[in-house]
Amino acid sequence: MNDTQTTLNKAIALILQYLESNWHPETKVINSQTADVLKEKLDLTLPDEGVALEELIPVVESYLEYSVKTGSTQFFNLLFSGSSIPGILAEMVTSATNTTMHTYDVAPVATLMEIELIKNLNNLVGFNQGEGLMVTGGSNANLIGMLCGRHQVLPEAKLKGLGNHQLVAFVSDQAHYSYGKAANLMGIGIENLVKVKSDVEGKMIPEALETAIQESLSEEKTPFFVGATAGTTVLGAFDPLPPIAEITRKYDLWFHVDGAWGAPVLFSQKHKHLLAGSQLADSFTWDAHKLMGVPLICSAILVKEQGILQKACSGGGTDYLFHDDENTSYNLGQISLQCGRKVDALKLCLCWKYYGNKGYQQQVDNLFEIASYATEYIHNCDNLELITQPTFLNICFRYLPKENQLNSTAIDQLNLEIRKKLIYSGETFVNQARCQGKIIIRLILANSELQKADLERFFDNLLNAGKMCEATEV
Ligand SMILES: Cc1ncc(COP(=O)(O)O)c(C=O)c1O
Repeated sequence: MNDTQTTLNKAIALILQYLESNWHPETKVINSQTADVLKEKLDLTLPDEGVALEELIPVVESYLEYSVKTGSTQFFNLLFSGSSIPGILAEMVTSATNTTMHTYDVAPVATLMEIELIKNLNNLVGFNQGEGLMVTGGSNANLIGMLCGRHQVLPEAKLKGLGNHQLVAFVSDQAHYSYGKAANLMGIGIENLVKVKSDVEGKMIPEALETAIQESLSEEKTPFFVGATAGTTVLGAFDPLPPIAEITRKYDLWFHVDGAWGAPVLFSQKHKHLLAGSQLADSFTWDAHKLMGVPLICSAILVKEQGILQKACSGGGTDYLFHDDENTSYNLGQISLQCGRKVDALKLCLCWKYYGNKGYQQQVDNLFEIASYATEYIHNCDNLELITQPTFLNICFRYLPKENQLNSTAIDQLNLEIRKKLIYSGETFVNQARCQGKIIIRLILANSELQKADLERFFDNLLNAGKMCEATEV
């Protein structure tokens, strides 16, 4: 065997070992170290003289050892989890074939695959004549949604800038922070992103949206964009799309839906009602790297009507890159903000073929059942308090001491300590958030392999950590 084969075989053996340990319930989710300690353990130096391929294996080993096992069924920290074998396979092939998505001639298979994937995602949303593109994350899909909205209201902004127009965009106070970044990048200013009030479950209140639009009109500003969210980041709320759509129609505003987290409910007959009215949107964000378990990054911006992506995003490149030939209409770079663009289509294609629509439906349905179980568990536990009744796969709660009467700040502190203790123990990885003025634990159910036993283990770990933290508190 030559050097390449030997090293790749060793690396594959290590990866398999890593994945198997991920699936073992006793494996720690993280070998947690502070940054200063970890720096000492890793060889981060870059040499003058290169090394033999095989000498890279120890680097891979330490990378695997100290990386967070996000595929573990005790990883509840972020809006993704799991080890997707078809996705890993696709990433290997994509790296080996290394190309860019700007033109059909350098990425023929990936281009056709991406177009077909976009068509299927659009069909699920209800955009039957739609277009779209894979982009570098849900944040950037939201940005492009906003850019399309700007192009609709002020097409001259592309060439001449905003002039005296004061554009205003509206999202709920629970929407993802990427909208603020989009407002910054587009030059409308972060203060012109209005955060509309949400109800106790975290859903945007349509009446509050209309009032906010009227206020901005009375200030002689130009409302242009409403971004609803399907599955908010902390509470997992789904904004009510039909009444929001009606308001956007009334005031002629671009209507974007951020489905980065919640979109896959569309696979489920039982739960797709949460996204009722998705076809009324003008554009839609879909992150397949979240609930569909595809390796990061795998996102799409979907648009209801063809043509606007090219108008809003195109610019340059025709002198050397985009040649006029029989495949011109397949050059996805013309509708993209990027030049070089990684192939993300293969991993979504292989995952979708592997699981099928039915597999995804089952995964979504199973996770909803696990969510009901977790909710019930919290209801029945004296030490735990739900923040709000979950509608999706975000279970937000906090630990409350049974006997000690602590004030709100002390309870916040206790919950922060519990989370820290869990992470340092490596047993469970879960996130905290600030919500309704309190520090809470945000339990995210994203791993399609999750079973009730994993949740029992999680709650056991958490309650033990709670008792230990309480004991040191008094
Ligand atoms: C609702 C929502 N939208 C958008 C994003 C941003 O997605 P990405 O991390 O792919 O940029 C997130 C990330 O968690 C999210 O929760």
